[in-house]
Amino acid sequence: MVLLEIQNITKIFGGLIALRDVSFDINRSEIVGLIGPNGAGKSTLFNIISGFHHPDKGRILFKDRQINGLQVDRIARMGIGRIFQEPTLFMQETIFENVLSGFHRHYREAAWKALLHTPAANREERIKKNKAIEILEFMELSALSGELAANLPHGRQRVLAIAIALASEPDLLLLDEPVTGMNPSETTTMIEKIRQIRGRGITVLIVEHDMRAVMSLCDRIVVLNLGVKLVEGTPDRIKSDERVIEAYLGKQVI
Ligand SMILES: Nc1ncnc2c1ncn2[C@@H]1O[C@H](COP(=O)(O)OP(=O)(O)OP(=O)(O)O)[C@@H](O)[C@H]1O
Ligand SMILES: [Mg+2]
Repeated sequence: MVLLEIQNITKIFGGLIALRDVSFDINRSEIVGLIGPNGAGKSTLFNIISGFHHPDKGRILFKDRQINGLQVDRIARMGIGRIFQEPTLFMQETIFENVLSGFHRHYREAAWKALLHTPAANREERIKKNKAIEILEFMELSALSGELAANLPHGRQRVLAIAIALASEPDLLLLDEPVTGMNPSETTTMIEKIRQIRGRGITVLIVEHDMRAVMSLCDRIVVLNLGVKLVEGTPDRIKSDERVIEAYLGKQVI
């Protein structure tokens, strides 16, 4: 069953065509990889799906509803979470506080009501805290929950970014380079964690240059090059596709 439909997306920045007529679907509970050389348009497509950019042409359907044109917050509330390629943590807040910040858009009681301690606000506060504890356990960050985000090593900061995204209870999670900069053992742990995230019923679209991670995780891979979709298919098909090897994989050992 299709969850996200990307239909004929074109995005132009000034004179530069960042994406040209890109189309593909993502089914529920799939892990789909989006790969391609630097500047291929991968992050731009993430920005369009999550509402930070608007396409010049084409549309995005999520759960059968058109979402391009909607506000970023609205799209997040509909069930799309993401981590950015660049760090976006609140560095001077604790890990626990960072995860709590991920809930904000999801709960009805306004922050000022929480300050007044109305019964409804107190109840939501308790639910949020319990969920944050559960997410930190799931992401294996509990022992560090009182640490400042700034004190975490790079690999753990990426794990925390995912924990924050999970707080909004997404149906679709967009991961922009989750293992880039990680050492091999952190990468292995993250690959397993992403599998467990899918095990929770969350669909995953992942941009990543680490081909070991992409090939072992993804059910299907879409390859972009210079803003154009080159090919899509299973990891085995992508690995042996001459056009992909020429444009991107080169002589990488996978
Ligand atoms: N806000 C912007 N304004 C102008 N040009 C942009 C903007 N965002 C992206 N671009 C350009 O669009 C093209 C695609 O960039 P994008 O960041 O989507 O690539 P990418 O595939 O994510 O690359 P990387 O693997 O290096 O992260 C690039 O040429 C980039 O310079
Ligand atoms: Mg990018």
